[in-house]
Formats: sequence, structure tokens, C-alpha cells
Amino acid sequence: MSTTTPPSTTRRRILARAATAAVVAVGLAACGSGGGAPAAGGAPAGAGDKLVMGFAQVGAESGWRTANTKSIQEAAGQAGVDLKFSDAQQKQENQIKAIRSYIQQKVDVIAFSPVVETGWDAVLLEAKRANIPVILTDRAIDSPDTSLYKTFLGSDFVVEGKKAGEWLVQHYQGKSDPVAIVELQGTTGAAPAIDRKEGFAEATKVAPNLQVVASQTGDFTRSGGKQVMEAFLKSQPKIDVVYAHNDDMALGAIEAIEAAGKVPGKDITIISVDAVKDGMAALSAGKINFIVECNPLLGTQLMDLAKKVRAGEQVPQRVLTEETTFDQATAAKVLSSRQY
Ligand code: AHR
Repeated sequence: MSTTTPPSTTRRRILARAATAAVVAVGLAACGSGGGAPAAGGAPAGAGDKLVMGFAQVGAESGWRTANTKSIQEAAGQAGVDLKFSDAQQKQENQIKAIRSYIQQKVDVIAFSPVVETGWDAVLLEAKRANIPVILTDRAIDSPDTSLYKTFLGSDFVVEGKKAGEWLVQHYQGKSDPVAIVELQGTTGAAPAIDRKEGFAEATKVAPNLQVVASQTGDFTRSGGKQVMEAFLKSQPKIDVVYAHNDDMALGAIEAIEAAGKVPGKDITIISVDAVKDGMAALSAGKINFIVECNPLLGTQLMDLAKKVRAGEQVPQRVLTEETTFDQATAAKVLSSRQY
């Protein structure tokens, strides 16, 4: 039943290097702008014209993803960017096909949120040879060749996992009885699944009574979370905590817990990541106990970066998004004004 995903040491080294080189949080106004030379042969064809961006989206697996897509489409409209958009339905082969088609169409910039971390080098080399700059959004890739993309805009998923773990350590502070945790992992091989697992494990190792007794992928979907939680409720003699890698899986788990005659948020403590409106509603209703925010509103920053990249300006290798956390009281206060 249990599955584990080893952390990627290669990628971690790369990201650490990139982080040391240049990290900017949110405000792109702070980005350095360099020489003004055209991006490696890519700019002249479309210079001065409407920027054409090919965006290969992961899918529509979660409320987060829907908000992310909306943000990108709206920001493209506002920035006057001609957006070619594709939905990979959570399949890497579909994303690779979409990227190849953008290369053939000679778009100005390709942006994508990789379904999984590995297996991108060949197609990104094709983009590089065609002089089309690539921007990673939301999720990173695991490749030793950082020249395959210009920048990576998105959250630090390890930090998100740590925040979830730190809250739990605090929640059980002073208690030494065993705490049985079940983990609903995101898509196998995806950066947020790998990193949120790693960050949580790191933060909770200070409290050896907090034990992950089962861990399985629910693929970031509500139905996946429900199905896996139903199986956990049958197979595990005791479940104290659910750690879900996103709100949708937590919401599916809540359905399973209620169907089993237990009270989510009371009989079983629930922690998740995202803070989408449905998750925040469940948090303020007491069915979830804590949510770590992951910001999907990346559209405006992405369009700004794309324009800079096409103009040949230097951009930071890593652009981090700013995020917070919510407990039940703070969720209730901001629920009505939540944008997504
Ligand atoms: O990559 C971001 C993650 O992908 C979000 O946390 C999750 O909801 C989505 O499917």
C-alpha cells in the first residue's frame, strides 16, 4: 500500500545553485535588466510585434490549476500577448507534443508547468536549437542543464511541506503518544509531490512519535483523494492525521471520513496545501485544521518575464512567490474576499 518518492539530489543541487545566483521574490520590478542584447538569436523575428506564447498546461486536475489557467489567460489578454494554450490532461507525452507543436509554429516564448520533473531534456534542446526561450512556471524540472530554460517562476514546495510539518509538531507539542499520519501524495514524480513530502518529513523528524503510517498518490484530484482515503480507513487500525498535498485531495478525504462515520477536523486532524476557496471554506467550517498557501496567480509575472526574455533582458534564474498559512480563525476572516 505505501509508496515513497526519493528526493532528487541532482535537482536540489541545481536549484540551490540557481538560488544562490539570483532569487527574486514576487516583485519583478526588482529584476536586474542586462544589456538589451537579443535573446540567443530568438528576438528579431517577432521584435516589435505582438508576443506569441505557447503555454503547455498540466491539466485541470484541481481548483488550484483552474485558478492558475484563468490567471494566465487573463494576464495574456491584459498584456496583449497572443496565447496558444494546451491542456496535457496530466500526461507528459501530451505536454511534449504541445511543446513540439509550439516549436514548429515558431512562437516567441514557450512556457510550461511540467507534469513530472524528469524527461524534458530532448524536447527542451529542440526548443533551444530553434532559438525559442523557455520559461518554467509553477513546477521545476530535474535536469543538469540549466541552459534549457531562462527562468523558473513558482513556489518553494519544500518550504510548503515544512510549514505543514511545523504546524503539526506544534499541535502535538508536549505529547508523546504515537500519532498515526496518512499522507495523500500528489502526482507521482511531480515536483510538488516530491518536495512537499520531503519538507514535511524534515520538519516532523524532531518529533519521533509523529509517524507516517501510509503514503500513496491521489494524483492531486478530489476523486483520487477520496479513493485513497477510503482504502486507508479500511487498512489502518488508527488514523490521527491526514496530510494531503493539496486541498482537492483533502476535500475528497473529508467525504471518505464522513462516509465512515467520523468527524473530519475533530476525530482526524487534516492539513493540506493550496488555500483555494473550497479548501478555505472547509477550514473555516472546522473540517480542515491547517492550510499552507500555494499561490496560483502567476499570470502577470509570467507575461512580464516573457516580454523581458524576448527583449533579451536578463531575468533572475529563480522567481519565488510569496505565500502564507491559514488556521481556522484566519480562514474565516478572509474567506469572503478569497479570489480563487
Ligand atoms: O503544482 C501545483 C500543484 O498542482 C497544486 O498544489 C495542486 O493543487 C496542483 O494540482
